[in-house]
Amino acid sequence: MALEIERANGIGFCFGVRRAIDLLVKAAGEYGAIETMGAVVHNQPVVEKLKSIGVTIAETIGDIKGSRVAIRSHGVSPDEEVELRARNIEIIDTTCPFVHRAQIAAKRLAEAGFFTVIFGDALHPEIKSVMGWAQGRGIATLDAEALKKQGIIPRRLGVLSQTTQIPEKFNAFVKGIIDTALVKDSELRIIDTICHDIRERQAAALSLARRVDTMFVIGGHNSANTHHLFDLCAGVTKTHLVETTGEIEPSWLTGHRHVGVTSGASTDDETIDEVVARLKSLAEA
Ligand code: F3S
Repeated sequence: MALEIERANGIGFCFGVRRAIDLLVKAAGEYGAIETMGAVVHNQPVVEKLKSIGVTIAETIGDIKGSRVAIRSHGVSPDEEVELRARNIEIIDTTCPFVHRAQIAAKRLAEAGFFTVIFGDALHPEIKSVMGWAQGRGIATLDAEALKKQGIIPRRLGVLSQTTQIPEKFNAFVKGIIDTALVKDSELRIIDTICHDIRERQAAALSLARRVDTMFVIGGHNSANTHHLFDLCAGVTKTHLVETTGEIEPSWLTGHRHVGVTSGASTDDETIDEVVARLKSLAEA
């Protein structure tokens, strides 16, 4: 029996990554080369392809060699923006509009006197940028009891999410905050900043994972949204996370007839096509 390979809806680059890469390609064409503040996406094959057209990475502001830099889709904090302008470095801003929405939400919370809690990974560049917009008055955590544990019980509390989190986990986090961090007269403002693309991508991947024998999630090993897809799919079927075709073990297809494929938001179509071609060739071998 032939192997059926089914792709989930909405895979490949998300809107924000596609937009950022288009802007970078345009800038590289116009200026010959362009530096980005950190890797533009958490996906090594994509980073390598961009490097081949002159897009290089400056890990910190101090590493920037030229007179212009591209801010990646994760955005930067207001302080970093001020520092770049003070150094007369021209900015090409590829911040995803959905990340910018979270930045503005954090700014408004801070201006209204709220302490901000961001449901997410404190070390992720998006969270660092959003926290900067909260004027540093907040914490980022995945633990709903973090406020209680740290003895922080603010009267005005705002809750946001990293754009790529799983909606159900955010809901549980908010419930945990309500249970542990509110006092009499507390004011709580919840702003759901999970992006539409991620919401739809996760739902489509989960729906496919429920119908197949095994799932392949294609994306960077250090990509947060790819890991969230993996966790969701692994909850319902055997799932493998691969960044490149070389990682695929032939034995992973043994006994399987229906295979599902999804991808992280920073995985390009070419890599997806390569993985699908490799799966087909293994099935025919
Ligand atoms: Fe933007 Fe969502 Fe992609 S926040 S960068 S569209 S994952």
